[in-house]
Amino acid sequence: MFVAINRLQVPAEYAGRIEEGFSRAGGMDGVAGFIAFDLLRAEGGSDYLVVTRWDDRAAFETWREGDAFQRSHGAANPNSPVKSELTTYDVVLSRP
Ligand code: HEM
Repeated sequence: MFVAINRLQVPAEYAGRIEEGFSRAGGMDGVAGFIAFDLLRAEGGSDYLVVTRWDDRAAFETWREGDAFQRSHGAANPNSPVKSELTTYDVVLSRP
């Protein structure tokens, strides 16, 4: 299993827009190799982690390059104040 985590540093006044965007997004149905994602907000702040799980890196890369990614990110503001930082991991061990 492969995990891609996108960290979004969001000004407090912009956080509502980001959360609304995610609640509208959907769009991951039927994406090959996609397992799940969580949108996590740091307690008491407006720093977010988008934690996504995939069968493997290839599935993640195919999504990044495809239409489903465009559809869920097409509404992003070109002058967005959000800073984004991606990190990727291989899952070594997992427990329910
Ligand atoms: C881990 C892989 C991901 C990457 C690299 C990524 C990339 C980004 C980036 C760079 C932004 C900031 C856009 C801005 O500046 O406003 C963003 C926001 C956003 N992402 Fe992702 N994202 C990922 C996962 C996801 C997933 C799985 C979804 C859900 C389908 C999603 C939906 C959104 C939405 C709705 C926003 C807010 C757009 C807005 O309204 O401003 N992202 N993402």
